[in-house]
Amino acid sequence: MDSLLIKGGVPLNGDVTISGAKNSVLPIMAATLLTSEACVIRRVPDLSDVKFMGQILLSLGASVQFEGDTVKIQAAKIKPFGDYDLIRKMRGSVCIMGPLLGRLKKATVSLPGGCVIGARPIDLHLKGFEALGAKIKIEKGYVHVRAGKLLGADLFLGGRSGPTVLGTANVMMAAVLAEGVTIIESAACEPEITDLANFLVAMGAKINGAGSPTITITGVRELHGAEHEVIPDRIEAATFAIAAAVTGGEILIHGARQEHMHAVLDKLREAGVKIERQGPSLKVKRGSRLRPVDITTLPYSGFPTDAQAQMMVLMALTPGISIICERIFESRFMHVSELTRLGADISIEGPSAIVKGGKPLSGAQIMASDLRASAALVLAGLAAKGTTEVNRIYHLDRGYEKIDMKLKSLGARIERVAES
Ligand code: EPZ
Repeated sequence: MDSLLIKGGVPLNGDVTISGAKNSVLPIMAATLLTSEACVIRRVPDLSDVKFMGQILLSLGASVQFEGDTVKIQAAKIKPFGDYDLIRKMRGSVCIMGPLLGRLKKATVSLPGGCVIGARPIDLHLKGFEALGAKIKIEKGYVHVRAGKLLGADLFLGGRSGPTVLGTANVMMAAVLAEGVTIIESAACEPEITDLANFLVAMGAKINGAGSPTITITGVRELHGAEHEVIPDRIEAATFAIAAAVTGGEILIHGARQEHMHAVLDKLREAGVKIERQGPSLKVKRGSRLRPVDITTLPYSGFPTDAQAQMMVLMALTPGISIICERIFESRFMHVSELTRLGADISIEGPSAIVKGGKPLSGAQIMASDLRASAALVLAGLAAKGTTEVNRIYHLDRGYEKIDMKLKSLGARIERVAES
């Protein structure tokens, strides 16, 4: 297993280009199961999660060819169940259920377990499938969904913490081949849902309202192959914007869609970070004096839970008190104990973390627990005095393409080493 060795205290300066969005490419790759024709997807990030999804599609019988940042997938002849172990390993693979149910009227997948950030049930996904007429059976760690035929329906997909992103994606992908009209209320509005809907429409689906809480899908008899370029990763862009502020440098971010990042950019500006449009790019630099800000994570277009940990590092370095409230996942503060090891002063009260900022950080050996926590630990290591060793960075490689190379090109003293 690899680790990252980081010698902190260097302001990051220069240009970085944002890769395609992990949380968009995974459901889009799954959506290719809806047609027997070939699909070509571009701006595909080189991530372990993407490779996993490729292996899962292969285990279902599809052909998958990666070439640079393009993948060609053809699901000519497929079966309704894939490799149990592979599917169990990656939560995102739950989104093969909708396309399999839509095309084959049946699907069997391993029940995704919880993960360190929360229980993450799929009850809303299954509720949506049942509304379309599917029968659900959970047995021996498997979920079996079956339907003689799928019929369009009106359904409400809101849960205890609001809409579900992959639940909306799954139900949308089942409904595109259902008979009649489906209306999803309290649908997720994330840009990744709009990107998926655009790909489905390119395949011949009839979808209105993607990106809004009400999505209307008029079922069609079949879909055809299509080509699509994935949107840039707004969370990777947010991570580099925060890296500029945390290290006191200046970074020009290319390829980010600023219209997908309003909540993050607004909070950074409130904290005193200078953010400027430079044509299609974004120039980010720390202002003269950072200010503490309070954050509450919310469904899109609110502040993204996937940028909460990274923002906590900036607040740990900012003199004053800030309160960070995590409203989406019930245990997404795994990074707090590791940041405390570097000298941060953070205490947890229920769904909130109280950050007493301004304490200098000093390097230590720390351990990543999940994808975004690992990004936060890398940012903290870049700001800390001395050397920080971040272990278990396989979490990082799940969602950040070549992050150590990108940081090195900005001047970071960072090395990937075999774990000691
Ligand atoms: C997606 O997960 C993202 N993953 C997550 O990104 C992201 O944090 C999350 O959306 C929220 O923005 C991918 O797109 C692959 P949800 P998803 O269903 O769809 C509860 C990252 O770091 N819920 O919107 O699985 C759930 O427990 C990852 O890139 C139910 O109760 O998240 C959570 O509290 C981490 N029942 C809330 O809803 C359900 O059936 C939101 O979850 C489904 C969800």
